[in-house]
Amino acid sequence: MKITREKIYQKFENKQPIVCLTSYTEPIAKIADKFADIILVGDSVGPVLYGYESTKQVGMELMLNHSSAVAKNIKKSFVVVDMPFGTYEKSRSKALKNVKLILSKSGADAVKLEGGEEISRNISFLTKNKINVVGHLGMLPQSLDGNYKVFGRKPIEKKKILKDLKILENAGVMAIVLECTIESLVKEVLKKANVPIIGIGATVECDGQILVAEDLLGLNEFKPKFLKKYSNLRKIINDSFLKFSKDVKERKYPQKKYYYK
Ligand code: KIV
Repeated sequence: MKITREKIYQKFENKQPIVCLTSYTEPIAKIADKFADIILVGDSVGPVLYGYESTKQVGMELMLNHSSAVAKNIKKSFVVVDMPFGTYEKSRSKALKNVKLILSKSGADAVKLEGGEEISRNISFLTKNKINVVGHLGMLPQSLDGNYKVFGRKPIEKKKILKDLKILENAGVMAIVLECTIESLVKEVLKKANVPIIGIGATVECDGQILVAEDLLGLNEFKPKFLKKYSNLRKIINDSFLKFSKDVKERKYPQKKYYYK
């Protein structure tokens, strides 16, 4: 049965952890769908799959393609799509137009936007137009150029996160991703929050956790402190390619059983 916004709230109210995973492609999405409450088509697709330096380089076309590939193959999970940098910040009518395009083409359930006060008027406009919006506070990859670092240690950063939390709630977000911030601040956020807080590098106490699928699978060399690698896909792929190349060079593949008669 499809997970709805209401189901996510039920989990939040019952203090049941919300499981979130990213997916960019059909094969990963189909597996993630078995285990996740929320699947995020993150703009991390740029750095992770295309080798971009930052998520800033990701555009509408890329997100349209990947969100469609994912959402069309999901049976159960609630699908959230990242709005690309430059598509939602300036004008609220442009934000609504781009959001509607992504949601209608992909069939996803919600969008995620990075930032607080700066974009809150646009978020309010989207939620008033019945769009499910997930906020994103803490470290904001779209504001950086690939130099990711903890956000929230400085008093000014801490103040901003706590202020933005209330601003985003008032703007009508259904949940907030909190990325790469310090334990004491997470505690304060959780005490004050009225919407689910989904953590990434933000302690075990959050209402849910999200990791980029390729990061937890060990497909790349990205290794921030918060990341637990549950697998070593890089090694598995390396060993498989090594075996294939050896077989080809020694004329051991394909054997007769792989022939057409
Ligand atoms: O783009 C992304 O994958 C994200 C997650 C890291 C939360 O925003």
